[in-house]
Amino acid sequence: MAAPFIVRTGAAYDDHVSIIDLPLLPLGKGRDLTSERGVECPGDLPAASDPDLVARAEAAKAALGSRVFVLGHHYQRDEVIRFADVTGDSFKLARDAAARPEAEFIVFCGVHFMAESADILTSPDQKVILPDLAAGCSMADMARISQVEDAWDALVEAGVADDVVPVTYMNSSADIKAFCGKHGGVVCTSSNADVALEWAFAQKSDRPAGGKVLFLPDQHLGRNTAVLKMGMTLDDCVVWNPQLPNGGLTAQELRDAKVILWRGHCSVHGRFTADVVDRLREQHPGINILVHPECTHDVVLKADLVGSTEFIIKTIEAAPAGSTWAIGTELNLVKRLADTHPDKNIVFLDRNVCYCSTMNRIDLPHFVWAMESLVAGAVVNQIQVDPDTEHHAKIALERMLALPGKSHRD
Ligand code: 13P
Ligand code: SF4
Repeated sequence: MAAPFIVRTGAAYDDHVSIIDLPLLPLGKGRDLTSERGVECPGDLPAASDPDLVARAEAAKAALGSRVFVLGHHYQRDEVIRFADVTGDSFKLARDAAARPEAEFIVFCGVHFMAESADILTSPDQKVILPDLAAGCSMADMARISQVEDAWDALVEAGVADDVVPVTYMNSSADIKAFCGKHGGVVCTSSNADVALEWAFAQKSDRPAGGKVLFLPDQHLGRNTAVLKMGMTLDDCVVWNPQLPNGGLTAQELRDAKVILWRGHCSVHGRFTADVVDRLREQHPGINILVHPECTHDVVLKADLVGSTEFIIKTIEAAPAGSTWAIGTELNLVKRLADTHPDKNIVFLDRNVCYCSTMNRIDLPHFVWAMESLVAGAVVNQIQVDPDTEHHAKIALERMLALPGKSHRD
């Protein structure tokens, strides 16, 4: 029987391998299998060509019964999402996991930061499993805790740290969420980023300059929210580049800024470009452009509607038959929306096919392997956040849950 393989993350487990310390892996022929340190599958990973994979997944799920709860993010492949007990965006899935205390195993078909959040929000005796440990997130990897601590030191040096509230997008590692918990900050998602920013500024309304936000790690969500939802200007925002000394900013620039945006982005949503929007409008008069706020500011400015994954799904569900849509979000979801709404014309906003490569790591062979291992009594690929990190990250997550107005609780 394969030995349990556990990935622990957070400061207390620094001597253990952590998925966020791994480089993104090249896929396909010619990849260096030995570079997949920490992501091997002990035992046998079924071949993708195995004709019995669907039957094996069904049998394993039936054998585990209510002991297992399978969560599927909207960006997952069709072959995997069909086995999900619930589907949703990252926050909804974390909340759904927390609402199933009787499930011994949470099999998370999504990416690493989502599995971490599920571990934080579930009870200590529940085990969260990520079927392929290479399912990271390039955006989350763009902010490392040591870099964020360096940025904070620079804010202290510039004499503004007392004015700053850190706000991190859900798409960040647990230790960044814990940093926000420790420094009076909050987590947000793409559907409540404006409420989170309002809350953050309200915490510092007594400060002479009215407060500042350090927004991690997605500069685009931060900029789109600050400018398009909060009425700030582009000049109110500066970009902190963690690769440059002092973030590439002077102390005066830090003192003048209202929002300090971390220089991170989503490698999928960052692909959509404004010229494709123009071309589609020429080709299809009356087309509706619907994009996620992780897209760049110029794309968002040209779109008709902007919103979270859940907003995109609800918008298409409510759209009239015969309407035409170009959607700027991950391709598995766009394809599924097109398949389930054949009465609407739905196209992908990118010229090229581009799935999220890390979301796509969770395929049927890894799912079958994880489920059959559980049936055989081996807990594989468990995601465990260390207790101290979990404690502080939970504070930031709970602040988000307590935000006024519309949130994922509604
Ligand atoms: P949501 O899951 O919050 O919609 O975020 C989009 C995303 O990029 C997930 O990785
Ligand atoms: Fe990360 Fe973007 Fe993939 Fe989401 S879609 S997991 S933010 S790289």
